[in-house]
Amino acid sequence: MVKRSLGIWGIAAALVGVFAIAPAVATVNEKTPSEQTLRSLALRHGLYLGTAVDLSAAKKTDEPRYSQIIASQFSTITAENVMKWDALEPERGKYTWAAADAFMSLAADNHQLVRGHVLVWHNQLPCWLTEGVATGTITRDELREILKKHITTVVKRYRGRIWQWDVVNEAVSDSRDDADGVIRYKQFWYQHLGEEYIADAFRWARAADPKALLFYNDYNIEAFGDGSAKDKTQFVHTMVKNLRVKGVPIDGIGSQGHLSTRYGNYDAFQIAETLDRFASLGVATAITEADVRSPITEGVKQGLSDDVNAMVHAQAANYSALLRGCLGSRKCLSFTLWGFDDKHHWTTITDLGRGRGAESMAGIYDAGYRPKQAFTAMKADLAFSGAPYVQNRLPQKPMP
Ligand code: XIL
Repeated sequence: MVKRSLGIWGIAAALVGVFAIAPAVATVNEKTPSEQTLRSLALRHGLYLGTAVDLSAAKKTDEPRYSQIIASQFSTITAENVMKWDALEPERGKYTWAAADAFMSLAADNHQLVRGHVLVWHNQLPCWLTEGVATGTITRDELREILKKHITTVVKRYRGRIWQWDVVNEAVSDSRDDADGVIRYKQFWYQHLGEEYIADAFRWARAADPKALLFYNDYNIEAFGDGSAKDKTQFVHTMVKNLRVKGVPIDGIGSQGHLSTRYGNYDAFQIAETLDRFASLGVATAITEADVRSPITEGVKQGLSDDVNAMVHAQAANYSALLRGCLGSRKCLSFTLWGFDDKHHWTTITDLGRGRGAESMAGIYDAGYRPKQAFTAMKADLAFSGAPYVQNRLPQKPMP
């Protein structure tokens, strides 16, 4: 029996170039599956397992567990905030690269691939930009030039070092956004530049980096609905199809995967089928921001086991559905958690769902870094799966 550490694929990927997908070989590891990491178990399928990283938490030396878990469990990372526009260009024309550069070094140190997040989004824009547009000091033509310059500058800086870029994020409305439930283009960029900004953004990103995989990323596209004008997943499918027909270089669709146990959500078959339908357009897919929050009921607050256990198990089942869905679709290249622990989780910090009662406890580790049921469930999904229904990932070539 050949003894080989699975960790080698992380290093091999770094050596061959960041775009390498682990080859389809059966690897043997002396450790039992439960002793192995998410990272090594996922690479058995050529799947990159990732997390969003809160860079300030990663830099804290008095809390080493945060960084240790990132290094050991994950083979790809995404910057939670430091690559967003307000972080990179807080003053017009003055770029502040230090945090984003530090994040890139962290990934290199850990032999991790990077998902770049995010080039075009309506949130976390710098004030000079939004105020300039609001007051009319930035005209439409100027805004288009500003966007082009931003994409070109950022993509060029990290050219050759980003595996997947989220080029456009959340450009489409949700069925809850408008009274008629119809899905439309929405928000700042659409309002000021019209829908052409989407094709432009992908073209500018491609010109700045010929090798990065360019993604459209959104939430609530985990499953198709009835195919009507109110079906967001269908809208995104049609949008990407039309872009590809026009020759716009879009290589992937990112399904964020923000779920809550209060909704019951989807099963693994629905998710795999959705990812396969996206893949049939010729693109890769990824789960990019997986998390499963829960309502914090009185019972949960008091730590009553009846309430806590039900929540913990429902959470694990939802994470499993997302992960198995991804495993079941061979073009699903990576599965990224939007944070892994309850202490730093954005849903804990932002109290997401306020108004309907706070929701959180969304991580796969608790606030003291103890793995939760979801962690074990994910490991089992990765370990106890293989051919014929779970096979090695199919590589994606960037569209020229
Ligand atoms: C969130 C971060 O996690 C928070 O720290 C920040 O305050 C707001 O943004 N969809 C996205 C991510 O694409 O960029 C968001 O990240 C979560 C929702």
